[in-house]
Amino acid sequence: MSYFKHHAFICCNQRDGGENCCNNFGADTLHKYAKERIAELGLKGKGGIRFNKAGCLGRCDEGPVLVVYPEEVWYTFVDKADIDEIIKEHLIGGRVVERLRI
Ligand code: FES
Repeated sequence: MSYFKHHAFICCNQRDGGENCCNNFGADTLHKYAKERIAELGLKGKGGIRFNKAGCLGRCDEGPVLVVYPEEVWYTFVDKADIDEIIKEHLIGGRVVERLRI
């Protein structure tokens, strides 16, 4: 039994010199937003949902990216609405959001 029901990692990697990276698309800001939403929804802690920052996850050209465990489902996202949909549909509802899946 895992400690969290879902553990999601958002790549917040920032590269210098204009190289492609997830934080060029606001990943850090959206990570903060995701954490706030989980807290607001009362889903923090053991048995709940955790969003962690990650360094480069190796899929830079598809970014920004996040991965959800234990299912090992990868998503891309562009805004708060996408994060809300991943939280509502997948992390709460158990339904993979196919339109954002990579
Ligand atoms: S910079 Fe995000 S996956 Fe590499």
